[in-house]
This record gives sequence, C-alpha cells and structure tokens, in this order.
Amino acid sequence: MPAQDKFRVLIVDDIPETRENIRRLLQFDNQIEVVGTARSGKEAIDLSSEIKPDVVIMDINMPDMDGIQATEAIRRKIPYIQIVILSVQSDQNYMRKAMLAGARDFLSKPPSIDDLTSAIHRAGALAQEERAKIAQAGAISGPAKNQPAAAAVQVAGKIIVVYSPKGGSGATTIATNLALALKRDDSSVVLVDGNMQYGDVAVFLNEQVKNSVLDLAPRVDDLDPEIVKDVAITHAASGLAIIAAPPRLEMADRVTGEQFGKMLQFLRNVYNFIVVDMPSYLTDTALVAVDGCDLIALVTTQDIPAIKNIQSFLTLTDASEIKRERIFFILNRYDKRLRITPELISTNLRQPVNMVIPFDDERVVINSINRGTPLYLEKKDHPISKSFTLLAGKIREQLAKIETELQPGIL
Ligand SMILES: Nc1ncnc2c1ncn2[C@@H]1O[C@H](COP(=O)(O)OP(=O)(O)OP(=O)(O)O)[C@@H](O)[C@H]1O
Ligand SMILES: [Mg+2]
Repeated sequence: MPAQDKFRVLIVDDIPETRENIRRLLQFDNQIEVVGTARSGKEAIDLSSEIKPDVVIMDINMPDMDGIQATEAIRRKIPYIQIVILSVQSDQNYMRKAMLAGARDFLSKPPSIDDLTSAIHRAGALAQEERAKIAQAGAISGPAKNQPAAAAVQVAGKIIVVYSPKGGSGATTIATNLALALKRDDSSVVLVDGNMQYGDVAVFLNEQVKNSVLDLAPRVDDLDPEIVKDVAITHAASGLAIIAAPPRLEMADRVTGEQFGKMLQFLRNVYNFIVVDMPSYLTDTALVAVDGCDLIALVTTQDIPAIKNIQSFLTLTDASEIKRERIFFILNRYDKRLRITPELISTNLRQPVNMVIPFDDERVVINSINRGTPLYLEKKDHPISKSFTLLAGKIREQLAKIETELQPGIL
C-alpha cells in the first residue's frame, strides 16, 4: 500500500459558514487535505464509508442525528477513522459521551488554527497507523500462525456484554459457553473478563493467568493486534482467546473505565466477537462496557428479586437511550414448574424473553465448572449445550438485525 502522507479530512457541520471557516483554516497546511464536507450525521456516516477519510471533524448539535451518535456509527463501521469533536459545549458530560462513542479529541468552538491543525495531525497519524496495522493483520492471516481462527480478522468485530444485575444468575456460565459456541473457523472470539475484582473466567476454562487485562490497560493508546494476541491466553482445548482479570484483588482499580473502554473498542480490530463477562455490580469498567457494546445479553432467573433488578437496569438503559433492540433477554435456570413464566416476565418488563435456558442438574453444571471444562465442550449433546448453540445463532441474528435496522440513521 503506498504511504499516504496527507491527512484526509471530512468536515461535518450543519452550518455552511462553519464548514467554510474550518476549510479556510486548514487550507494553509499542506499536510492536510479536505476531501469532503457533510451537513448532517447521516451524511457523515455515508460519506465516511465512501471516501474513507483519516479524520472527521464533527459538530455535535445537528438536526437529524447528533455528532456523538454519528461518531459511534462511523467508528463501528470503520474503526481506524479518527474523530475530532468540535463543540460549543465544553461540558464534562459531553466529553465523556464523546469519548465513549470513540472520539479521539474534543475541541471547543471556535478552535484556534493551532489547536485544530495539531489535533488533525495527531489523529491523522494514528488513523494511518491503524489502517496500516489492519491491512498488515489481514495480510498475515494464514494457517502459519498457531491461532488459525484468530487470523480471520474483520474490520469491525461485535461486542456482546453478558450481564445479570443479580449475582449468581449464570452470567459467567453463559458468557463462557456462548463464546465457545460463537467460535467457528470463520469467526474468532475473545472472552474478556469484565469482573476486575473476582474475575473467574480463567477458572471456568481451567487456564493459568499468565497475562491479564493489566498488560493491556496502560498501553491502550498504543495497541496493535500482535500485542493483543500475545497478552490473550489461548484456551488449550478450544483455541478461544481469553483476556483475564487482574490476578490479585488489590489490583482491580488499576484498570480505569477509560482504559477498559478503549481496549474493548480496539479488540474490534482483532476478533469477530468480543464477549464480556460482567460483574453484577456496575463499576466504572462495567458501565463503559455497557455503553460501548453492540448487544447486552441480559440474564435473569425466575425470582422476584432478580426481576426487580432487571427492571432497575432497564430504567438505566432507557435513560441512557440504549435501544431495547440492543438487549437480548435470557431467562436462565428455567424451571417450568414455577409460576413466573417467561410470558409473565416479558409482559411485566415490556421486554420479550428472547431465549430460555433450562435449569440443568446443578451437579452437572458445577462439576463442569470445577473441572474447568465448559459443558459446551464436555457434553455437546446435553440439552444445555444445545441451548448454547441456539443462543449463539440467535445472537448472530440479532446483531445482523441491529446492523441493518439501527445503523446508520436511526441509531
Ligand atoms: N442453566 C443452569 N442450570 C443449573 N445451574 C446453573 C445454570 N446456569 C448456571 N448455573 C449454576 O449457577 C451458579 C452460578 O453461575 P455463574 O457463576 O455462571 O453465575 P454469575 O452470574 O456469573 O455469578 P457471579 O455473580 O458470581 O458472577 C453456578 O454454580 C452454576 O453452576
Ligand atoms: Mg460471574
């Protein structure tokens, strides 16, 4: 690929004068080339796919779709494009939202020429570097590596967060087996332990924690696919990649929400599916994962306290404008003798139960955990393993549906 020295910039603002002013500011920098302008969030998404700029200068307030939603959609589609937000609001909350959406920089309006050009230089250099890395990772995808599935690099992997607001509902059991069921020759999967304090994903898979999220968190701004693959533990029996939790309890707060969020977004460049096992308590890292994922696999059991907690969580996601379509609702440990039926739960919460996983003989499930051999691998024909195959299929379908229905535009 020929080295691209100019930084290609797309300007997005609904006001023609602002677009023109920015263009004028940039015309004296011969390293910067304005390759397009867009008047709305939707147009920005379409143009970004078409002309693939290095940097997008993005306004926040626009009539059809705000700049934060457009940023998220662009980053999801083409993760190497870097976005610099320009806004009159220098509000912390906006900055946080912009950052979670994947923006690289945040400048207040009107920017000085120096601030603007240096932000573009930084973002542009990063975009070109990331683009090159992705191209390189694609080029080395061959059977030579000892992780054949992980070599199937795709530009925008999907993040699935497995969450239950009540402890012990089966989130880790589901995350582990779902990750295994999603893994195929043509799709690579990483299972990320999102429980910084009591992470037990490695135990479920009987793997020693040689490396952990702590090896990635401090260098989140400087990751490349090779570093990620070095740090991820490869599950011997299946080839699944695992990013383990910190090895000791007192290390939990060494990973900030910002670092965790950036790491998850970077993993999109390396794996087709990123499955995150979450703690029930919503820590900073957990919140960032909820904010930045494609799908929340929300787990409940058939008891009133669990359902009450689901209700509180849905109130939070509604307030954060997370569309209900992004929630895949799972009833785990289902016992048909109980009076709280899936239909009753669906009606009560106005959220359809998408999948029911039966209550299995607890001894079978616990033994498999204690042995560190997930049921999906150990007993493929067992009813619960079949549920995980079905679950993986339904989750793939839901993700495809979200992609066509919620993006771009009505996100
Ligand atoms: N479908 C099921 N049938 C029977 N037992 C199950 C089922 N799913 C999970 N379990 C059991 O429930 C217990 C809790 O499961 P798990 O550790 O996966 O839950 P969790 O939500 O991750 O809990 P924590 O809050 O500790 O993170 C385990 O002992 C597991 O064996
Ligand atoms: Mg757990």
